[in-house]
Amino acid sequence: MQKICDKMKTILLLLQVFLLFVDGSYNDGTKQWSWICNTSRKCEKVPNAPVHKYFYNRQEKEPLYSLEACRLICGQYGALWPRPTKDVDLSQDLININPSSISFQMLNAIDEARDFLIENTQLFLKNIFLECGKNCSAVNNGLDATVFISISNSNMDLNWSTNESYSLEISKAGGVYVTITAPSAFGARHALETLSQLITSYKIQENGIIHHQFVIVSKAVIKDKPQYPYRGLLLDTARNFLSVHTIKRQINAMASSKLNVLHWHITDSQSFPLESVRVPQLSKYGSYSSKNTYSLSDVSDIIRYAKLRGIRVILEIDAPSHSGNGWQWGREAGLGDLAVCVNQEPWRSYCIQPPCGQLNPINSNVYSVLGDLYSDIVDILPKGETFHMGGDEVFIPCWNSTLEIVNYLDSQGQDRSHESFLALWSYFQQEALKKFDSKVGNENTPIVLWSSALTEPEIIEKYLSKNRYIIETWVPSDNDLPTKLVERGYNIIVATKDAWYLDHGFWGTTEYHNWRKVYQNRILNSPSVLGGEACMWGEYVDDTSIDSKVWPRAAAMAERLWSDPSSSTSAAEARFYRHRERLVARGIQADAVTPRWCYQNEGMCS
Ligand SMILES: *[C@@H]1O[C@H](CO)[C@@H](O)[C@H](O)[C@H]1NC(C)=O
Ligand SMILES: *[C@@H]1O[C@H](CO)[C@@H](O)[C@H](O)[C@H]1NC(C)=O
Ligand SMILES: *[C@@H]1O[C@H](CO)[C@@H](O)[C@H](O)[C@H]1NC(C)=O
Ligand SMILES: *[C@@H]1O[C@H](CO)[C@@H](O)[C@H](O)[C@H]1NC(C)=O
Ligand SMILES: *[C@@H]1O[C@H](CO)[C@@H](O)[C@H](O)[C@H]1NC(C)=O
Repeated sequence: MQKICDKMKTILLLLQVFLLFVDGSYNDGTKQWSWICNTSRKCEKVPNAPVHKYFYNRQEKEPLYSLEACRLICGQYGALWPRPTKDVDLSQDLININPSSISFQMLNAIDEARDFLIENTQLFLKNIFLECGKNCSAVNNGLDATVFISISNSNMDLNWSTNESYSLEISKAGGVYVTITAPSAFGARHALETLSQLITSYKIQENGIIHHQFVIVSKAVIKDKPQYPYRGLLLDTARNFLSVHTIKRQINAMASSKLNVLHWHITDSQSFPLESVRVPQLSKYGSYSSKNTYSLSDVSDIIRYAKLRGIRVILEIDAPSHSGNGWQWGREAGLGDLAVCVNQEPWRSYCIQPPCGQLNPINSNVYSVLGDLYSDIVDILPKGETFHMGGDEVFIPCWNSTLEIVNYLDSQGQDRSHESFLALWSYFQQEALKKFDSKVGNENTPIVLWSSALTEPEIIEKYLSKNRYIIETWVPSDNDLPTKLVERGYNIIVATKDAWYLDHGFWGTTEYHNWRKVYQNRILNSPSVLGGEACMWGEYVDDTSIDSKVWPRAAAMAERLWSDPSSSTSAAEARFYRHRERLVARGIQADAVTPRWCYQNEGMCS
């Protein structure tokens, strides 16, 4: 009986396929509009026309069921974001695939690299089904697809010299064959991200039942590599707490946009949410509540989660300034004042932003407490990972009004000049670095510091070694500090304040930088420029609003740093709008960037 049933099924299936080939074009009752890739390489909206259901027979000029399907094959870069840097050759044809038949062949990855790739193929499948929607019901009438992944090295260190390049080819011969070749598993991950952007699905209705048709670009040849090795997003969890869940969601969006560094500004003078095992007082006195904390295992979990998506986590413990709450227990513990000016008012006399607080550079206990904190961090950081020591906005009047500190200067025969305070600051930096190095056990860890009075080009060489320090500049785009630091031989990261500060527009006289402004910010091109970063400072953002403040704007920066195109925003617009939809489909509450009409009518609102 079972056998007869199976035979019947096969016959029915064959009959169906036959009928479909005979009558492969029909009008989908669920759709009002179709799109056609016209001669100006725009997806043009047309009233719903009969459309070929099977792309084997599709004529190039025939309309497509959805804008997203049209976008895949329209224009040089289709739906890809960020656009690849090198060769891109996409066919103008789509073919149906059966998503549950996609199989993966790992050709030579071993150990951790193999596990990494297997997990990434699952993330890839999850992403294409997320785009399909909650009630995704894929029709199984397409071709099977096989993805061959070949990497030349299974080393799983993710660092400044990780080779993220990849090549990807799609061809059709009986089935769909995808070949991914990359020097590292991280490059192969980027290739899978690209592949997910060469596939889409749309609704079809058959006998009143809604199904989803998956399609893939029928032929593609892509060679790709990033322009800059550092493509970062800063999250600030001290001004307002962000849940682990929220941080992971940002990581997902970063992975979708090929960003590769999460710069975690974990503490500040407002709060100290990091739970140190060796110094539990820091979060006990510094967190907003016992729930608003990150255990070391939370941080490890985030580091692992990020690495699986090709993203490094660089932790920042900002010091000596931007440190207050969390440090106020020293005297009680017999360690003297670890921080000074903590929560002092009127705040304008003691800091740039309330609440005030600055570490006490002349109290040696500060360095042992920092050492214990660094030990905890070193325990969870990947070996050799870069560390960010902050170092911005030291407010001299705070130290200058602290009796203990000015008495110390007197006793050392030093005056109270600007230079004396810079020397004191530099002393702090040297001592803190020594502690860090002693915990790591070597003196090689790259250290990032924000640009500051200590990094002025005229004096920086006196205080900070170019072999050791990377300077993160946060000056406006017309400021020549990045150029001057590069001329002096420093490696830098560029966080352009008047383009990539995502908190701007929500306080004071700052202006909101829309995605075009973000996109147009070209940074200095030099091997010493490691890359750049969008900064989501946390004063006016928390779990409820972060997605729409960061996204899709950070993705605009992602293309700037990945491919650094010389073309304008109008060339990027359709792909960018498409990418915003992709982020939303993947669960990111990315902000709207244009009226729906403009999304549907490409190029008609520019
Ligand atoms: C192509 O479509 C776009 C968007 O609808 C439209 O603005 C443009 O005029 C069309 N170009 C041609 C040559 O039809
Ligand atoms: C999914 O299907 C359920 C049950 O048929 C329906 O109530 C719901 O509206 C559908 N959701 C979407 C997003 O289509
Ligand atoms: C960085 O990673 C590469 C592999 O991507 C590895 O060969 C190299 O040893 C690593 N460098 C450091 C300093 O860890
Ligand atoms: C990265 O790998 C590609 C492909 O193997 C190679 O062509 C390229 O030279 C490598 N880049 C660097 C900086 O080593
Ligand atoms: C520190 O304060 C003294 C007065 O108490 C003042 O003369 C000096 O200029 C101040 N130093 C700096 C660098 O502001």
